[in-house]
Amino acid sequence: MAGRIPQHFIDELLNRIDIVDIIDAYVPLKKAGKDHQACCPFHDEKTPSFTVSQQKQFYHCFGCGANGTAISFLMEYLHMGFIDAIEDLASRAGMEIPREVTDATKSSNQSSELYELMEMITNFYSKQLRQHPQANTVIDYLKGRGISGEIAKEFELGFAPPGWDNLINELGKSHDAQKRLFKVGAIIQKDQGGYYDRFRNRLMFPIRDQRGRAIGLGGRLLDADDKPKYLNSPETPIFHKGRELYGLYQARKAIKDTDCLYIVEGYMDVIALAQYGICNAVASLGTAATPEHMEKLFRITNKLVFCFDGDNAGRKAAWRAMENSLSLLREGKQLYFMFLPEGEDPDSFVRHKGSKSFTDNQMQIPLSEFLFSSLNKDLDLKSPEGRSVMVNKTLPYLSQLPIGPYQDILIQELANLTHCEINDIQRHLSELSNNKTHKPFKKTDYTKDKGIEKVRWLVRCLLHQPSLVNQLESIDKLAAHPTPGINFLCELIEFIQSRPNITLAAILENWRDTKFERRLRELAADEETFIESKVTDSEFLDAINGLIKDNLEEFKDFKEKHSPSELSEEQKAYFRNKQKSE
Ligand code: UTP
Ligand code: MN
Repeated sequence: MAGRIPQHFIDELLNRIDIVDIIDAYVPLKKAGKDHQACCPFHDEKTPSFTVSQQKQFYHCFGCGANGTAISFLMEYLHMGFIDAIEDLASRAGMEIPREVTDATKSSNQSSELYELMEMITNFYSKQLRQHPQANTVIDYLKGRGISGEIAKEFELGFAPPGWDNLINELGKSHDAQKRLFKVGAIIQKDQGGYYDRFRNRLMFPIRDQRGRAIGLGGRLLDADDKPKYLNSPETPIFHKGRELYGLYQARKAIKDTDCLYIVEGYMDVIALAQYGICNAVASLGTAATPEHMEKLFRITNKLVFCFDGDNAGRKAAWRAMENSLSLLREGKQLYFMFLPEGEDPDSFVRHKGSKSFTDNQMQIPLSEFLFSSLNKDLDLKSPEGRSVMVNKTLPYLSQLPIGPYQDILIQELANLTHCEINDIQRHLSELSNNKTHKPFKKTDYTKDKGIEKVRWLVRCLLHQPSLVNQLESIDKLAAHPTPGINFLCELIEFIQSRPNITLAAILENWRDTKFERRLRELAADEETFIESKVTDSEFLDAINGLIKDNLEEFKDFKEKHSPSELSEEQKAYFRNKQKSE
């Protein structure tokens, strides 16, 4: 296998090429101020909100949130793999790609090997469905559920035979091979040492990412009384349930341009719908749909239809999905809900009622209707009291919508419902957003820790203005600060210091495929800083010093929440000194 492409080469490559030329070849760009603009190639729009910064070597769409470097652009726009994108850029720049020689254990950590292994596991299970002596039990099961051979093939359904070591015997012959199987979650470690197969006597559903790489597996029990009914791969370096959707690869393959996508709950739902010709359905993987899921889907389509059971749990899940998506409803993005009759899921519904009934628009409730009808359920809108409660309950939701026609129309709607003047609603909304402290970051799972906020602010500044590090002399004091994220901040500072004139793009590429990648991209795409970087050197230094000086209370609090083993040596020393000086 070819070795890893060294990071310094990627730095150099990004230095030589210009993202503006690369993108302009596919999406003609117009100069607008110091940036370049075009209508976004990743979503439908009439006025340009796709912006490319030459200085940062980074693109960002204010409409759909698509963003990245020249490498990401080729990956997203031309659906290239990472290596192909690098090769493409290198040949444009007339550069030869050097490869790092890695030893076997080192390269075993690399995701490409894990993808290859997942592909082999996927093939192993689908082969068992065709060849294993006991495969009849699954085939009968599939037939019993009305699944056609064609669809079973399309979704590469498989069979994990009974027994503890079928997979290990096939793909885990050496200790290293077992370690890799463990890494992708296909086998489980025994307490007394050794491993056993995670999936036994189950119908297998391979999970592929949008680009078609095998990343995980789900397995259904054949015997209805056992537990758990479905077993999924755990989180692994290449499988993140909060990001991936079952069936997305097949959906994209089947339909080029889709005017809507259905989000359903189960593997079986996706498969049954596809069999009935509804190929634009995906399922979240045993978790509620995350904002990341929705962002991903909104890049492909303007309309998402969430499909839930008609019971209370379904309503609750729909409400959560609604809350998670309000801030994503930019420029023509629409969200609908579908509630199936009690006791039905999409699988049973489409089999009973046919595909026309499933896709009937009458089934779909627009977000606005769901929002208003849920909020006014127990209110008497005939009384002024009821109406004012309605306004108060609705405002926080409206305030999460991006400013634009959709928000305007819902404001109008609320005004009609409550007889409150539009101007008054708008005034309350702006009061509400003024009261909220400045919130430049998307709602995510960050803790409320003040230190963390500061660290994030500093990281964001550095991404957009790497030259700020020139003012910093030493990071020793900073490194001792016990705020989560501080190690990363210090690493970032040192990285930028070691590479004068580095761009945002090169910073992002350095952390590609690491656990920091997603956060960094979020911070990189932060709209205010993207448009105008305006932090002065002294503001930056003040913030660093402020962080260092934070009072002992915050540190004590941190220490209480973390075990000593989680503290670095510097942090322990810092506590000792601080406590002495008290
Ligand atoms: P359901 O229980 O609705 O299953 O779970 P289903 O898809 O209708 O399955 P069938 O029709 O009984 O075969 C919906 C989804 O929740 C996750 C799976 O992703 C499943 O498809 N799930 C469910 C689990 O991860 N584990 C479980 O034990 C159950
Ligand atoms: Mn079902």
